[in-house]
Amino acid sequence: MATVTSIADLGRHVGEVVTLQGWLYDKTHKGKLIFLQVRDGSGRCQCVMFKGDFDEATFEALKSLPQESSLRVTGAVKAEPRAPGVPGGFELALQSVEVVQAAQDYPITPKEHGVDFLMDQRHLWIRSSRQWALLRIRATIMRAIRGWLDGAGYIEMSTPVLTPAAAEGTSNLFEVDYFEDKAYLAQTGQLYNEANIFAFGKVYCFGPTFRAEKSKTRRHLTEFWMVEPEIAYCDLDQLLEIEEQFVSYIVQTVLRENVAELKVLERDVTKLENIMAPFPRISYDDAMARLKQMQADMRAGVPVLRHDGAPVQGIDDPAQLDIEWGMDFGSPHETALTQLYAKPVFIVGFPTAVKAFYMEPYPDRPEVCKSADLLAPEGYGEIIGGSERISDHDVLLQRIREQSLPEENYRWYLDLRRFGSVPHSGFGLGVERTVAWICGLEHIREASPFPRMLNRMYP
Ligand code: 4AD
Ligand code: MG
Repeated sequence: MATVTSIADLGRHVGEVVTLQGWLYDKTHKGKLIFLQVRDGSGRCQCVMFKGDFDEATFEALKSLPQESSLRVTGAVKAEPRAPGVPGGFELALQSVEVVQAAQDYPITPKEHGVDFLMDQRHLWIRSSRQWALLRIRATIMRAIRGWLDGAGYIEMSTPVLTPAAAEGTSNLFEVDYFEDKAYLAQTGQLYNEANIFAFGKVYCFGPTFRAEKSKTRRHLTEFWMVEPEIAYCDLDQLLEIEEQFVSYIVQTVLRENVAELKVLERDVTKLENIMAPFPRISYDDAMARLKQMQADMRAGVPVLRHDGAPVQGIDDPAQLDIEWGMDFGSPHETALTQLYAKPVFIVGFPTAVKAFYMEPYPDRPEVCKSADLLAPEGYGEIIGGSERISDHDVLLQRIREQSLPEENYRWYLDLRRFGSVPHSGFGLGVERTVAWICGLEHIREASPFPRMLNRMYP
């Protein structure tokens, strides 16, 4: 019996006879040879059948074996730098092939398919090499997130998914019937983490988050994963340093560990290699001025250039950049701003009125709050929202009342400001947005194995 191994491990078996257990990805034949592209989850490898080594019937049957048939193949591992494959570099000279199941006609073929069709086939589409590559990068990102936080002494706390109250605005809540009462799917675990820091100092929660986003955009899912670190005795400046270290570590980990996957995606890695702290910081006021200038230049026919000197892309009409002080940025504003920088950029000090109720206003300018969004480069937009939190009981109570939030549901949250309140800060990083940026995806839907969107619950 040959050793069963995986494609990722072939390098340790050169010259040996091994068995791979996988699926048929593609095949071609030429005279006395059949080339099978076999994938096994860890990678893809070319396996070569030479007619002389098989009986006629087996050889002929293999020629018409459908794509995605499951099979065990046994053969000698050869180093072959030119053989197609992922990570590549090896080939199997086959001695035997066992078909585990001959697949039916597979709906996803090498021809171009429409997105709706592919989304309906999502349970199969994840086997395709691009999807495989980017979902593996997603797993690296999730591991890097935990790795960095665990290594820096953060304690992971699970926060509830069923919650009694809103935390990020009331317009996108998913309501659940909770034994004749109402509950909401969590939009964030932050408020609970603010309780957790008083017990543990530095914490994070990491899990699915729900928002009934009614708009169809390239950036919104209704269920997405978010990691939310929260830190006691931390102000906004300290928070931004943590964020830039954290994001740099995530990107550098993917560059190190997913070379083959990034190649499958044809990602321009030079745009990721420079993602290292520090990141630029600009104020909301300055961002507003930059946007106004870009809009004026566009209208005057003055070329608006990216950080690398190429023209800004993705803004067809200067009217898309319409904005007044006090408004939150929309995606055209983020698209335009991020192209001015090669690295992610912090936008600091948003108007208090457009941000969540818990953000600390600047004492000398309360119409602005100690908040920062981190916008990813290349037009990807916001990947992190964060802030310093209100630490004073009465200021917080006033904000809860101003926003007409049901006070009784926030009693416990107000308590945190009564028993040893401290300055504290935290942020939330969206996993799928981060995956979309690092992988260079056009749409966030591919960044989740089974995305949930306004018009999509199947499969
Ligand atoms: O800016 P947001 O709403 O911040 C919070 O929820 C805070 N409570 C976080 C905190 O301070 N602990 O969301 C944070 C991030 C966004 O920057 C974005 O990356 C992601 O979550 N996000 C979404 N991702 C996909 N689809 C959506 N509908 C998203 N909404 C937010
Ligand atoms: Mg936000």
